[in-house]
Amino acid sequence: MLPAGQVSYLEYIEEQLQDWQNKSIRRRLRFDATLLDFSSNDYLCLNRDGSHTQMLQSLAAEFSYDTVGSTGSRLIRGHWPSFEEAETQFCEWQDLPAALLFQSGYSANVGALSAISGPGDVAFCDRLCHASLLDGIRLSGAQRHYFHHNDLDHLESLLKKKGTRKSRWVLSEGVFSMDGDCPDVRGILDLCHKYDATLYLDEAHALGYLGSRRSPGGGLVAALREQASISSQELHDRIILSFPMGKAPGIMGGFVAGGKALREFLINRARSFVFSTAQPPILAAMIARIVRNFQEGAYDDRMLHLRSNAEFLRSKMESLGRQSTSQSAIVPFLIGDARDALEMSKHLETNGFDVRAIRPPTVAEGSSRLRITVHSCHSTESIARLLATVLDADLHSRN
Ligand SMILES: Cc1ncc(COP(=O)(O)O)c(C=O)c1O
Repeated sequence: MLPAGQVSYLEYIEEQLQDWQNKSIRRRLRFDATLLDFSSNDYLCLNRDGSHTQMLQSLAAEFSYDTVGSTGSRLIRGHWPSFEEAETQFCEWQDLPAALLFQSGYSANVGALSAISGPGDVAFCDRLCHASLLDGIRLSGAQRHYFHHNDLDHLESLLKKKGTRKSRWVLSEGVFSMDGDCPDVRGILDLCHKYDATLYLDEAHALGYLGSRRSPGGGLVAALREQASISSQELHDRIILSFPMGKAPGIMGGFVAGGKALREFLINRARSFVFSTAQPPILAAMIARIVRNFQEGAYDDRMLHLRSNAEFLRSKMESLGRQSTSQSAIVPFLIGDARDALEMSKHLETNGFDVRAIRPPTVAEGSSRLRITVHSCHSTESIARLLATVLDADLHSRN
């Protein structure tokens, strides 16, 4: 018997599960390879069409080290040459001075942010920032403030009000993972200059969709550099970039990029880097190869198809009165209620489509949605069919 008022953890989790079930926000693992994929982040179909499998096989045949596991953290015995190859190749592609490869985008953001910021700092986070950014800041002990999504007036009002601290950070994403829209990076940087802050920008979903001639698929900042909207000096002084590789590049790992001193600092202080086994070295070799392919234009045709497919879906939705703020491969279809979103996702499943319902706490209460992701290898016919199925179900649920 537990003392009065105390509950066992088993009781607690049973209660929670039941509560989530009642509210239609209980998450479940499911996988069905027969469904048409409109939910993964394999935007360029590098996995779907077997390209990555072939790449891995050819790398395995030529890989010079007889190991699969890295056998340690990079600071101990896990620093195989392919890690530095990947980092060097990445810096060439992105035209950046230095980058450090972490095991995932999550560990990159949590490790970097908790290392570079601390209790004396203040961080201004777009309220739609990914959990890995928010967790990194939380772990750092910095004071946190949230500005309305992409609302620079609100950001400025917070920057004005919240007095000076040791360092000030602004957190945002190149493309937001649940809305697919982009921030006004130039505007944010102007505020960073005015209020002496540094921008930490996560390019996870911008990679492979946005970019420049110099850095094909290199992300939002690469595109802005080409338009001369961001100077090299600013890039050095005011911006830290994070590049999770699990989305369009179709692999895993995450680079944090900035100056050489930043890389050295993270090697010494980013706890997710220092205290965790490095990924298999062949994975780093594969990342280097993928990055080289981006740089050499091998994925240019895929990116063209991807953009044209995303524009097709957006314009179809708009012609049907469904405005979208998306500027990427992520095109949300807003529903509102979690139960309705779940029903819609099930309806799509029975019609052969894999589209997931995104519900609280991933998105705000009342903003549950279908998160549709468009891929380069979708046909316009399948996109049109998906949209017709969504609209048909939407119409029925409203009547
Ligand atoms: C914006 C953003 N940052 C970081 C991550 C985490 O990256 P990873 O999946 O490589 O851990 C994600 C993945 O969901 C993301 O959407």
